[in-house]
Amino acid sequence: MNGTNDGRAAPPSHSAGDSAAPGEGELDAEEPRAPRRPPIHVLEDNTLHTRLTRELGVHYPFVSAGMAFVALPPLVIAVSEAGGIGMLGSAPEPAPFLRARLHAIREGTQRPFGVNFIVEQARAGDFTTREHIDTCIAEKVPVVAFHWGLPPSDWVRDLKAAGTKVWVQASSVEFARDALALGVDGLIAQGRQAAGHNRGTLPTLQLVRELRGLTDTLPILAAGGIADGLSAARALYHGADGVWVGTRMVASVEAYAHPGYKQRVVDGDARDSDFTTLFGPEWTGARQRVLRNRVVREWAGREARAPSNPSDSIGTTRLYPGLTGGDALYALPRFSAFVPTPDTKGDLEEMALPASGSSMARIESVLPAGQIVVEMMEGAHRLLANPYELETDTDENDRS
Ligand SMILES: Cc1cc2nc3c(=O)[nH]c(=O)nc-3n(C[C@H](O)[C@H](O)[C@H](O)COP(=O)(O)O)c2cc1C
Repeated sequence: MNGTNDGRAAPPSHSAGDSAAPGEGELDAEEPRAPRRPPIHVLEDNTLHTRLTRELGVHYPFVSAGMAFVALPPLVIAVSEAGGIGMLGSAPEPAPFLRARLHAIREGTQRPFGVNFIVEQARAGDFTTREHIDTCIAEKVPVVAFHWGLPPSDWVRDLKAAGTKVWVQASSVEFARDALALGVDGLIAQGRQAAGHNRGTLPTLQLVRELRGLTDTLPILAAGGIADGLSAARALYHGADGVWVGTRMVASVEAYAHPGYKQRVVDGDARDSDFTTLFGPEWTGARQRVLRNRVVREWAGREARAPSNPSDSIGTTRLYPGLTGGDALYALPRFSAFVPTPDTKGDLEEMALPASGSSMARIESVLPAGQIVVEMMEGAHRLLANPYELETDTDENDRS
């Protein structure tokens, strides 16, 4: 069974209000093409309902990616207020600062939101600690999503016991299987098109289909290359319960990204991103999809020869702006993994600018985050009302 994202039985007709499930393996390119049953969506009350919207009680199956430094309370609030789920990018913020961020979010919205953590031991210590998890439990955070490493099982158990939904971002079937064994409540399928730290090799929609083979009950979100109504419609049509959107949200008014970074995302095209392991004195050797700026082009193919502990600095930034004790200046080492924000001084051509080419090809301007959510979702809604051309249209070419 795959593809039903609302858990309902399939009615037989082809009208816009239909919900139906493609049969087992029907989305597999190797299978002979059988006559296809109607789309997998329910269109109700002029919005899109999926397993995700029902579980979390939100209007749209839209989640903004947790993005360290960039996805701070204003972006979270704007997305959640627009009917999606805003995710705070926590890493590598120390636990005491997290509580202040959560209070700021709660002052701005009463709607569901989430916190994203990176599970990794970095140079300065673990990005995520038990203290972070206890803070989320005490503050009754609706969703916690983990990335990169798997969380210890007691974190998952205790978060779930407190009523928090626990999701894991997975870039392979094997990793997703291990996450499911921990008892997580949902998966984010991070395809190879996705920006940021990414080990993925499969295109986003293929990964969604493969993860659907592991679970036909839990929500699966599609991440990577989703930046407009068409790409969102494709993801939902091909079995995702929602979309998890990063690069498009960098180019939003509320994102805490440097204006020059936002502009490069707007100007960038399909071929303007690449994988690199160049960045990260703070977090060494991890593969990232970034915008192909000067430093990435210069070091392409020679990343391993870049000094792992460079002594020179490319600028300054503030790591935890707006928080008492968090405003100190940080000297960005050469090849820093930390992204430029409005506080950053220095040459952006020397910095890590996480971005997806597939997404940048779909971005034409910096817009308010709420407008992005509504336009993408209403665009997807229109396409899904008559989706038959989406059937063969998977846009799986990784043009990045
Ligand atoms: C600026 C930026 C920072 C990111 N930081 C994180 C992070 O802290 N944690 C995480 O799970 N993913 C992070 N990601 C990756 C996203 O979760 C997601 O996989 C990706 O953005 C999806 O692809 P898209 O950019 O094409 O939408 C980041 C992405 C961007 C663009």
